[in-house]
Amino acid sequence: MSFIVELLPAFADNYIFLVSDRDLGLAMVVDPGDGEVVVRALKARDLHLSLILNTHHHTDHTGGNDLLQREYGAPVIGPAKEKSRIAGMSRAVGHGDIVTFSTLRGEVLATGGHTAGHISYYFPQLKALFCGDVLFSLGCGKLFEGTPAEMWESLKLLRALPDDTQVYAAHEYSEANAKFALAIDKGNEALKARAAEITALRKAGKPTIPALLGNEKICNPFLRADSTELRNSLIKGGIGAADADAAALFGLMRSAKDRFGGQKL
Ligand SMILES: [Fe+2]
Repeated sequence: MSFIVELLPAFADNYIFLVSDRDLGLAMVVDPGDGEVVVRALKARDLHLSLILNTHHHTDHTGGNDLLQREYGAPVIGPAKEKSRIAGMSRAVGHGDIVTFSTLRGEVLATGGHTAGHISYYFPQLKALFCGDVLFSLGCGKLFEGTPAEMWESLKLLRALPDDTQVYAAHEYSEANAKFALAIDKGNEALKARAAEITALRKAGKPTIPALLGNEKICNPFLRADSTELRNSLIKGGIGAADADAAALFGLMRSAKDRFGGQKL
């Protein structure tokens, strides 16, 4: 079996992910915010769509569901806690459930915080994590419906996955995220290297996604809220508080990033 994971750019900075089984001519799509983008890609590759996965209810992740269901009859799998907010959901899933596409098995992880019911999909055979708007390269999603503690728990869950996991984050925010990360974690050499890589990729017009989880674990400040070095750096920078636990420190970082800007969603 040969599977291919492709990024389909949509809107200003979204990525829709197309996973195809080229032997069978079948595809699944993750977070199709724009259905026409997906239809064009499927036609160009002569693929039939057999599954739609949604991570959360935001329109830039679900807006194409309707068109794709009509064109291909593909079922939509999405978060059980957001069933009432995603029209036409065929199957509602939660933490621990398994989704299947061809011979692939994907594990559903509860990753609330950006939205209350947000889920992620981890496919061990592909070494691929589809994490919607929870984890970005060098950043994380905004807390629209959750608390810092909930988001920190979600990020810890993702951080526990193997280092060789490819992180398919749904937005190209890496350049802006790198600016903030470098401002608060000045001594981090691995971060400097990743930031330079991001600059070079963007200069060449290439995506910075997927990101390697093992590298994010040492570079992404939002995965390092329990690091002593980062804590000290945040206190020196006037963001951290000595008595804050990791979840609170994460929340202070997230608020500082909101003020810093460069991230819409
Ligand atoms: Fe979102």
